Amino acid sequence: MSTQASTHGTMTLKLIVWRQKGPNEPGRFETYEAKNITPHHSFLEMLDVVNEDLIKQGKDPIAFDHDCREGICGMCSAVVNGVPHGGQKRTTLCQLHMRKFKDGDAIYLEPWRARAFPIIKDLIVDRGALDKLIQEAGWVSCHTGGVPDGNAIPVSKPAADYAMDAAECIGCGACVAACPNGAAMLFAGAKVSQLAALPQGQVEAPERVAAMVQAMAQNGFGNCSNHYECEAACPKGISVKFIARLNREFARALVKEKTGSFTPR
Ligand code: SF4
Ligand code: FES
Repeated sequence: MSTQASTHGTMTLKLIVWRQKGPNEPGRFETYEAKNITPHHSFLEMLDVVNEDLIKQGKDPIAFDHDCREGICGMCSAVVNGVPHGGQKRTTLCQLHMRKFKDGDAIYLEPWRARAFPIIKDLIVDRGALDKLIQEAGWVSCHTGGVPDGNAIPVSKPAADYAMDAAECIGCGACVAACPNGAAMLFAGAKVSQLAALPQGQVEAPERVAAMVQAMAQNGFGNCSNHYECEAACPKGISVKFIARLNREFARALVKEKTGSFTPR
C-alpha cells in the first residue's frame, strides 16, 4: 500500500477482489475500477461506490461484512494488499480512509484466510468459531450486571486497568487471519486474562483456561509459535503479554489438576 496521501481531486483505483459465490464454490480474483473516490471516503464507502456501479450494471455486488463502521463492533474484515484491516496501526478496515492511497493504485482484497473461518461469500467468512470459544470459556458464574454487583467486590485500579486493556478486543479475528498457524491465542489470551485478573473471574480460572485451550483445538485453530503477527494486525493494540498470561494460567491449571484441586469441565 502506498503511504502517499492524495489531498485533492478524485481517484480511480484498480480493485482486484476475491469473488466466491458460496462456501463450496470455486473462488477467483476479479478486477474492477473504483471511480470518483475522494480521499475522504472510508474504505467501506469506497466499496459502496463500487457496488452501486455493479448494481447499476445488473451485476452481483461484492459481499463484505460491516456493521458499526466506527471501529467498535468487530464485523469488518478483509485482507488489503496482504494485511488484515489494511495495515494502518490500530485501525479497523471501516476506519481506514482512502487518503492512504493514491490515484492509480492497485488494491488486492481477500477474505480472512484461516481453517477455522470458512468463506460464506466473497469477503465474508464465518467467525462462529470465536463465538464457540466464548460459549466454552468466556464467562463467569456470578452476577456482574447491576451497579450493586459491580461495587460489591473492590477491584484494585491496576487490576481494573489491566482487565480493561484485555477487554478492548472486539472479536474481529484479524489476529487469526494474520497468524501463519491460524491460531486464536491473542483473542483467547485477552479473554482469559481479562477474567483471571478480576476477583469475580479468579474462582473459575483453572477450569476456564483448560476449557479455552480445549475449545481452540476443537474449533480448528492452530497453535501459537510466537510470530507476533497477531499483535501487529490487531486494530485494538491487544498485547501478546496476554498470550503469556494464558500460558501461565494453563501451566497453573495443569498443576492444580494433577493435585486434584479442580476437575476440568
Ligand atoms: S485480539 Fe485484536 S485482532 Fe484478535 S479478535 Fe481481538 S481485536 Fe481482533
Ligand atoms: S464495521 Fe464495526 S468495527 Fe468495522
